[in-house]
Amino acid sequence: MHDGIGTMLSITKMSLNQLEQQLGGEVKVGFQFQKTRSMIDETMTNVRRISRNLVPTTLERFGLLAALEELADRATDGETDIQLIYPDEETHFPPALDLMLYRIAQELVNNAIRHARARHIVVQVFTFEKEIRLSVLDDGVGFDFDAVMENKQGGLGLRNIESRLNVVNGHVTFDVAPGRGSQIHVQVHLHDAQPVDLMS
Ligand SMILES: Nc1ncnc2c1ncn2[C@@H]1O[C@H](COP(=O)(O)OP(=O)(O)OP(=O)(O)O)[C@@H](O)[C@H]1O
Ligand SMILES: [Mg+2]
Repeated sequence: MHDGIGTMLSITKMSLNQLEQQLGGEVKVGFQFQKTRSMIDETMTNVRRISRNLVPTTLERFGLLAALEELADRATDGETDIQLIYPDEETHFPPALDLMLYRIAQELVNNAIRHARARHIVVQVFTFEKEIRLSVLDDGVGFDFDAVMENKQGGLGLRNIESRLNVVNGHVTFDVAPGRGSQIHVQVHLHDAQPVDLMS
């Protein structure tokens, strides 16, 4: 649905640009065009933000693995490919746990795309007895974890992962360093992950 809105907005913007060309470069209307264009841009940004925050339909209907497939498909383009590795057997987690793990994977994959300049990203889900592990590996430029966390103006993504996991006694391990790909591993015990805790 939101893809549809995004497409409509892009087409509207293109149409506006054509209209501007047809009307010629009159200064007075030029200003109005600029204003309209920036309103469309702002709307596009908002639609993107809202759709990122929505619980994906695939996650609700088919669970974590299907939603990760979709995430990987969407993020794969000419520059980056995302490989998803998960167990063959059917795995079902409580919906709130699905959502938490999905948000973490989404953040880590976004980071790998935005910051790492990775060509290859691997998302791996692994379950052992009552433990779930989620790993995101990239072959990008890496980073200095301590420096990033000390930076008070820095982003919220990694901090959010830690605080989400704290609630359910989960763990995250950052095996990262500047100059080499990053490996981030998340671990949660199913019996610690009470649905009520996870909703917070
Ligand atoms: N996979 C990665 N490869 C290289 N650098 C990374 C990677 N993940 C994180 N970083 C570095 O760590 C910083 C902090 O990441 P974090 O996700 O907390 O914030 P952000 O992505 O900058 O902003 P936000 O997540 O709030 O949109 C990033 O700005 C980037 O410098
Ligand atoms: Mg981030």
